[in-house]
This record gives sequence, structure tokens and C-alpha cells, in this order.
Amino acid sequence: MYPVRVLSGMRPTGAMHIGHLHGALINWVRLQTEYPCFFFVADYHALTTAYEDPDIIGKSVWEMLVDWLAAGLDPNQSTIFIQSRVPEHAELSLLLGMSTPLGWLERVPTYKEQLERLSQKDLLTYGFLGYPVMQAADILVYRASMVPVGEDQVPHIEMTREIARRFNHLFGREPGFEQRAREAMRRLGSKRAKLYEELRTRYQEQGDDTALEQGRALLSSAQSLSLGDRERLFGFLEGSRKLILVEPHARLTKSPRLPGLDGQKMSKSYNNAIAMREDPAEVTRKIRTMQTDPARVRRNDPGNPELCPVWQLHQVYTDEATHAWVQHGCRTAAIGCLDCKQPVIDALLREQGPIRERAQQYLDDPTLLRNIVADGCDKARKAAQETMRDVREAMGLQYT
Ligand code: TRP
Ligand code: SF4
Repeated sequence: MYPVRVLSGMRPTGAMHIGHLHGALINWVRLQTEYPCFFFVADYHALTTAYEDPDIIGKSVWEMLVDWLAAGLDPNQSTIFIQSRVPEHAELSLLLGMSTPLGWLERVPTYKEQLERLSQKDLLTYGFLGYPVMQAADILVYRASMVPVGEDQVPHIEMTREIARRFNHLFGREPGFEQRAREAMRRLGSKRAKLYEELRTRYQEQGDDTALEQGRALLSSAQSLSLGDRERLFGFLEGSRKLILVEPHARLTKSPRLPGLDGQKMSKSYNNAIAMREDPAEVTRKIRTMQTDPARVRRNDPGNPELCPVWQLHQVYTDEATHAWVQHGCRTAAIGCLDCKQPVIDALLREQGPIRERAQQYLDDPTLLRNIVADGCDKARKAAQETMRDVREAMGLQYT
């Protein structure tokens, strides 16, 4: 089996806010210590909706990257790059398009929804319909097995799995596959080969899933196999195909939804966000004027934290003891809203200090950032090219 690889991306939206930080980036920073990670800026995806004003993309890309590094993404641990600088994304997207049924794309739940929501733009384009194919290419070109994303992206990951499965089914036959698989089997050693054969039969004739699991475990632990033979035997176990593309899994980020200043979802376009590197005086001002439980008109009116977005921030930013203090103080009007907000302000400023500091070196020296990203693009490209060699061969494009 191919090794575990994590991949995720974001469309360039410029400077990140604390919703991005707690919703995604902190999780990415943790993952990079556990797995090989690839994180990229999806600038092609930005063009699917912003094709009429492409000038904003460049600035947003670099601002966003500064914030990724400021959040703690480490170029020594993660491969950080830009989608359009690895043209293999575009190539695989085109090739996957050959075998992706139109109906699959029209049925993506977000498709019609977005068409309606963004009805001021003309999104009846080939590119916008193909958004999920492009996303599938992003993931499959690295044979990524784990994709950390939010709930809203799950349909896209599901579609990626279907696209990969269909691709392997259509193009995963190589001439003499069965014979090559049998040769690879012999290289397992006779005892293992016999067990493999039994498990394969049990899975294929009786659909026995534990046999499939055991077969996979057997292959994973077989040291004597080359990568190609191993893949062949994985494919042979399940059917008679070679697995060229890897079906990824969504890894849902268990993260709190941060409310915006008005209690709606935090978003730059709603103008209710706190930036990751907000000016400290602005942090204070924004929180002090933030929406609270509307029932607390006067200082003496008791309130209910469940109806207050500030309470949601407490859950992310303050400790148990403070939570108890808020619950009691709010419901009995023992504390005022400004008292209640102060620990949140303090925690935000504490969080943002080191972030601002880390960002500063990239703002002072933009070539530092450019070099990190150029390096990441090179590394990503090497990995993508390995997959593309197999894809081109499977699709009959390696002719002479
Ligand atoms: N569609 C994703 C979003 O809007 C961005 C994205 C593009 C992505 N390609 C990806 C995320 C590949 C994960 C993997 O957030
Ligand atoms: Fe919200 Fe705190 Fe005011 Fe209660 S006291 S309404 S939780 S800000």
C-alpha cells in the first residue's frame, strides 16, 4: 500500500481570521508532526468563481501564506506550495475529466446551491462544473490518503473516491496483469502465497471483508516485495486491477465553530471577523462592541450565555474556572458584559503575540517566503510526477 500522506488546500482569501486558525490551521500544524503533509493554495479553484477579476488572487495568495507560516506550519515538516505552480494538477484534472460522468458533477449538493447563492456571477461555466474534478486531481496526484477538511467538503472527498475507483477500474489493467500478479505472488514465499490465495478466494467468492483486511495486512508486512508488485497484489486481491490512484479519506476536523462579531458565521465577506494578526487595539475594540445576549439591555438584566456569541469564544479561549464564573455571573447579573469579555480579549492578545512575531520576518523579507514556496513547489512537483508517469502509461499516452 502507498504510505500515508496528508493533503489539504484552501482557496486564497487573503489574510486569515481566527476562524481559519481554529477551524483548520491548528489542526494542520498538529498533523505535520505526525505524517508527511502537503498543504497548498488552491488558486485555480479561486479562478472558477473569480475569473472576472483575477488581479486579487496574487495578493491574497501571499497574505494567506504568511498566515499559514505564522500559525506554525513548518516548511521543514510540511510541503507548502501553490497549485498552479505544479502543472500536474491541471494535467490530471484534464485526464480525470475523460472518465467522469457529467451526472456525478451535476449531482454534487454544493453545485446547484452555489449557483443560486452566487447568482450575481455567471457560473454556468465548464470550469465551475469541473470544480470537484480539479479537487480530485489535487488529492489523487499525491496519492494522499488523508484529507483534513470541514464537513462542507465531505461530498467532494466522496466524489474523489468515486473518481479514483472508476479510474482504477477503467485503466488499471496492464497487459498480462494476471500473470505478473502471479509472479509477484511467488515472491511472497510459498507459505504466504498460499495464505494470500486463500484470502483472495474468500473475499472474491464470499465477499468476506475480514479476508480482505487480512490479505492487506499480509501484503503490508511482506518485506520482500517491490512497490510495483505490492500494488499489483493489492489490486489482484480485490479484483484484477492495479491500483493506480489511492482512494482518500476525509479527516473531519473536530473544531469549534467560531462565531463572528455579530453572532453569524465568521467570514471576511460578512465583515464580522477578527484577523489572525489583528491590531491589538482593534481586537479590544471589536470584542468590546461584540454582540451579546440581546436580553441584557441594562447592566442589571440577567442573561443567558447560550444565547450569546461571546460565550462561544469563551469555550475556545478560556478555562473551566472562567466558564463557571461566566455562567453564574451572567445569569445573576453579577458581572457586566465588559467584565465577561475581558478574559477573552486577554487570551486573544496572548494568542496573537507570537503569531504576529512569526509573521514579521516574512513581511520584512518577502524573498524568504518566496523561497520557501518555490522549494515546496519543487518537492510537490516531484511527488506529482511519479503519479503522472503511471497515469499516462495507464491511459495509453506513453506510446512511441
Ligand atoms: N474546495 C476546498 C475549499 O473550498 C479547497 C480545496 C481545493 C481543497 N482542492 C482541495 C481542499 C483538495 C482539500 C483538498 O475549502
Ligand atoms: Fe454574553 Fe458574557 Fe454578557 Fe452573558 S455576561 S451576555 S455571556 S457577554
